[in-house]
Amino acid sequence: MKFAVLTALIACVPTFIDAASSRSPYDGASVFLIPSYVSEVQAAVANMTDSTLAAQAALVEQVPIFFWMDVSTKVPTLGEYLAAADAAGGTQVVQSVIYDLPDRDCAAEASAGEFSIADGGAALYEAYIDSIVAQVEQYPNVRVVFIVEPDGLANLVTNLSVPKCANAASTYKELVSYAIAQLQQDNVWLYLDAGHSGWLGWPANITPAAQLFASVLQGAGSGATVRGLATDVSNYNLLRGAEDPVQAPNPNYDEELYINALAPLLQQNNFPSQFIVDQSRSGVSGIRTAEGDWCNVLGAGLGMRPTTDTGNTLIDSIVWVKPPGESDGTSNSSSPRYDTHCGQSDAAQPAPEAGTWFQSYFEALVQNANPAFS
Ligand code: BGC
Repeated sequence: MKFAVLTALIACVPTFIDAASSRSPYDGASVFLIPSYVSEVQAAVANMTDSTLAAQAALVEQVPIFFWMDVSTKVPTLGEYLAAADAAGGTQVVQSVIYDLPDRDCAAEASAGEFSIADGGAALYEAYIDSIVAQVEQYPNVRVVFIVEPDGLANLVTNLSVPKCANAASTYKELVSYAIAQLQQDNVWLYLDAGHSGWLGWPANITPAAQLFASVLQGAGSGATVRGLATDVSNYNLLRGAEDPVQAPNPNYDEELYINALAPLLQQNNFPSQFIVDQSRSGVSGIRTAEGDWCNVLGAGLGMRPTTDTGNTLIDSIVWVKPPGESDGTSNSSSPRYDTHCGQSDAAQPAPEAGTWFQSYFEALVQNANPAFS
């Protein structure tokens, strides 16, 4: 009897409480513009002297990016944005990045975070996740897309020779499972970060990567699920296009090849195989000295605009995750977060700390945009 009543109820409830992961969050929805990025772009435009470039740059504020919760004090701001999206009405998607693992960015220095494993960071991270849960539960009518922990699990596929990563491995896995387990609300869609084609797309890495994603999902418990994976976050690879010589001999040298190769491996491991792909700075190819270069790469341009017209049913949407103009890391070699990648000849310099505004780099990204802004 209870079951029959429940079935009848389910049949007539509004669509926003459909099982979140069974369809794309972007279907029939508008994507919310993150106010803090709109302000950053407006300030940048006000500082430009070239009026043609300024007019092009002004259009960037209309492109939705992801709001990065790279410190726990940004969680209340997520709440403000959810409230604003709710008030705007219609079906709104708010896009955000969960990015605060203890011993974060274990194989690089540039994005080391606020929590450390040695100092109670795991419990602090759980509290951070709990505070995110409290926010999304207040706004059940707003769809929330989260990318979970850029580079976190990917580092465990290839960088266990780095002591900080080896030491963090079990904690990263447990905490990503915890985040998945807690964020099962019907208005939440989760995409775990899956590195990019030039990292986990290599034949030696792709199978262990699929197995790791599946085991972390299993760790979240039998009822828990995700929508899929996010690729190319803060990187520079094309969705599809000619091979850049530095990518050889990787057969999966662009994001679509990587996704097409990864999807069946995920399916074999009972892991959902839908994707979103960051193209915010992927407009120009052939600019890196080495495939692994990631820091403020010189010559980069804004890439494909966000769209659900992806040409591939595995890909829910092209998205802009990295807010163009925010630095990947400082080039100041005396900073505690200095990473040598940010001082290489293919990295724009002088560059400010990760996440802070890098005006000349933003201007170059607009200048080199492909497709152009006009
Ligand atoms: C930084 C974060 C920042 C994000 C988006 C990361 O590299 O570590 O602080 O929020 O990029 O710009």
